[in-house]
Amino acid sequence: MLSSRVTRLKESATLKMMERAKALEARGVRVISLDVGEPDFPTPREVVDAAYRAMLEGYTHYTPSKGLPELRRAIVEKLRRDNGIDVTADQVLVTPGAKQALFYLFMALLDEGDEVIIATPAWPSYWEMVSVAGGVVKEAPPSDGYGLNLEAIEGLVTDRTKAIVVNSPNNPSGAVFSREDMEGLVELASRRKLIVISDEIYEKILYEGTHVSPASLPGGEETVVVVNGFSKTFAMTGWRLGYLAGPRQIVDAATKLQQHSATCAPAFAQRAAAELLPQADRLARPMVEEFRRRRDFIVSALRSLGFRLEPPRGAFYVFPELPDSEPDSTAFVERALEAGVSMTDGKPFGGFSRNVRISYANSLENLREAMERLSGVLKR
Ligand SMILES: Cc1ncc(COP(=O)(O)O)c(C=O)c1O
Repeated sequence: MLSSRVTRLKESATLKMMERAKALEARGVRVISLDVGEPDFPTPREVVDAAYRAMLEGYTHYTPSKGLPELRRAIVEKLRRDNGIDVTADQVLVTPGAKQALFYLFMALLDEGDEVIIATPAWPSYWEMVSVAGGVVKEAPPSDGYGLNLEAIEGLVTDRTKAIVVNSPNNPSGAVFSREDMEGLVELASRRKLIVISDEIYEKILYEGTHVSPASLPGGEETVVVVNGFSKTFAMTGWRLGYLAGPRQIVDAATKLQQHSATCAPAFAQRAAAELLPQADRLARPMVEEFRRRRDFIVSALRSLGFRLEPPRGAFYVFPELPDSEPDSTAFVERALEAGVSMTDGKPFGGFSRNVRISYANSLENLREAMERLSGVLKR
């Protein structure tokens, strides 16, 4: 009855863990959830007020498929100001979340059997989206410290390769790719005529280093599509708002997919986002500072338990290597869950069977309690 396209689709690893945690809670076990990729802060009040005003003003209908003109203009400004990217409003498509933007891109770029190189470790949804679009994933392992491994990427390029996916700041490792690596990536993509899909959703959640968008580099204009959104920076996961920007031909193809599926992103959310974008840094700063405190805590707590990790430079995850006493990530994640701490197995991020992903988008108090519980798991 079901299509092969959907039959080969795997369930989301993080959402599955969340459901298992909820089932345990229903049995009376208090689970500390370190699996979710979402800020625990409320959406800033100013943004909520702006959406409320927008609804009263009538932003409650369809908008143009590409997005409200004022939001697309604000995105063009933002890309110029923050990233040094030069695009026109026609090269921007506003979508219901970055996830939807990525989905459109794979659908727009891939024919059956086309290959996509994913720089790992990476967010598991990329694999499933590529598969639904009929593509085949090639996994490029990282260089030391979870950096971009250009040699491995180049070694995977064939005449079926269409795109390379990179995500910096990275989910799950927190790595931030250097300017030299991004330059090398754009040079490679230009030379081999490939599209770079650059997922920059954690751009503003940055503790050290500089975020360099490959779209801003020489040659990036023709080869890079930037995907970004509002979920992570502004604690707006439930608003469903993201965007993509890049070569006109690709943006127009993605727009056709949106016209025949979502139609547009929510109107009042778009209107509020147009107001908040110029103030992005001010609104994000308190949240980023709190994430930094949690990062510092969790890195030292995990190290003292025998995990191996370097402090992540961005995003709100750590991707530590397990202590030597723990041979397998799946088994460890199971035991941690039994002890009331849910986290995500490293395997769906590109086959990392000695790593787990821990989200520190949770209060310091809960993180402390979770580390005590993990200490108990390791002693057993
Ligand atoms: C790397 C990455 N890209 C995209 C998304 C999706 O973001 P959105 O809520 O805008 O769809 C996530 C969310 O977990 C993510 O981790």
